[in-house]
Amino acid sequence: PHFDCSGKLALIHNGIVDNYEELGKKIRGHKLLGQTDSEIIVHLIERELTKTQNLLSAVKKVAKMTTGFNAFVVIHQDYPYLVAAKTGSPLVIGLNPGNNLVSSDVASLLSHTNKVIFLEDNQIARISPDEVRLENFSSVREIKPLVQTINWTAKSASKSGFPHFMLKEIYDQPAVLAKIAESKVKEARQLASSIAKAKNVFAVACGTASYAALAGQYLFACIAGQQVIPAIGSEFYYYDGAIGTRSLCLALSQSGETIDTLQSVSFAKSRGAKTVSLVNVQGSSLDRLSDQTILLAAGPEKAVASTKAFSAKVALLLLTASALKRKIPRAVIEIKQAVRAIRKILSPDYQKYLKKLASGFKHVHSIFILGRGISYPAALEAALKIKEVSYIHAEGFAAGELKHGVIALISQRTPCLVFAPNDETYSDVISGAMEVKARGGLIIGISHKPNPQFDYYLPVADSGNATILGNVVVAQCLAYYLAVARGLDPDMPRNLAKSVTV
Ligand code: M6R
Repeated sequence: PHFDCSGKLALIHNGIVDNYEELGKKIRGHKLLGQTDSEIIVHLIERELTKTQNLLSAVKKVAKMTTGFNAFVVIHQDYPYLVAAKTGSPLVIGLNPGNNLVSSDVASLLSHTNKVIFLEDNQIARISPDEVRLENFSSVREIKPLVQTINWTAKSASKSGFPHFMLKEIYDQPAVLAKIAESKVKEARQLASSIAKAKNVFAVACGTASYAALAGQYLFACIAGQQVIPAIGSEFYYYDGAIGTRSLCLALSQSGETIDTLQSVSFAKSRGAKTVSLVNVQGSSLDRLSDQTILLAAGPEKAVASTKAFSAKVALLLLTASALKRKIPRAVIEIKQAVRAIRKILSPDYQKYLKKLASGFKHVHSIFILGRGISYPAALEAALKIKEVSYIHAEGFAAGELKHGVIALISQRTPCLVFAPNDETYSDVISGAMEVKARGGLIIGISHKPNPQFDYYLPVADSGNATILGNVVVAQCLAYYLAVARGLDPDMPRNLAKSVTV
């Protein structure tokens, strides 16, 4: 928290105040300890309080002065309530009589309550232990809040005996996928029918979710002959000329709060496109913004590194692509096969081997990951997982690109993960592995069968179009054990936040 000059007023802030320089000029003479935009805000509120003697009005006035995407929560010794204001970043109030709460993330509230109010932009709340009063910035009239019940349990947001959330969430995947195969068929069919009607379809997302979107591109093309254009959230605007009233913008997000994804959806709406979201957090900004939402039903994902939400999105995209060709029964079987394959990966012996492997590679400088076809997004996702939790440089490549430059990076004993599933990519990706091996690289093969090119072999049973799920789980585990072997906390990687709201 940041304090005002008196030390009586404290503020927490999520976001970036774009016009902080200009606002800073208004508080000359105030005692600032640091150089953050947040501190300027608390002193501005202090200044307003001398004029109004009303904490809510003072916060409202200052929140209105700010530009950018922000959320502020303020407490003052002389006032028996908190004030929370939202101009972009997420804010959710947990209703727990006698002990109301406010947070940026619903998962953090679940051990106290599942009754919540999501604040909209330009709303401000006065939160006392027993009462919540909501207003818009533009009026002093009370607004009736929409209270939502989140159907996640407190236990699902706990570590359940695992040492880290990341590992627990990796282990959640068989159950999540089985549930999707059983319960999401109807929604997948509806989405397929919207896709079939659209002139063009964009799958918009960031980070791990964008790799799920890329996997979707391959699934839709190969299962249904349907083009789906993956677009990174921050790049979506540049497709402007192609987005219109007959476009479908399919947004993918775990949190539903990723600013680039949200802005893409708003942008698509402004062009008259239909918007559908695959989102994990019920009531999140994306859920509220989209014309239609399919909840991933993966349960709370708390580790910064996204794992089960990736699998849930890919499974849903597989069902949807299959629905376009009336092949849902086959997709359901494939997802169930993937569930069995993942259970084997999560068995104690397999995990022991992965842990040992990670410990042997914990000091390497770089790890490369190769895949072709749908294993290319798997390679990108594997690399992201390794980078973000172990801080080892990792790059995923389309194996065919090796000879176009990447191979220059291979030196003696460079570890190279190779996805070699039982599909049309097998022999070509093995050729890539041979090229790497010929230059001294070490091959860690992830495949349904051993191959003489593999220095290490990580089996993943074939599950047709769903094989990517097991393959990525192996990489998730490897990333996790690399982080642990290096003495790092995989749940809290440096410089990263769970929801990228700015
Ligand atoms: O909540 P979202 O799925 O929209 O998040 C998108 C990315 O910020 C997220 O996937 C990020 O890349 C993760 N840290 C990856 O593990």
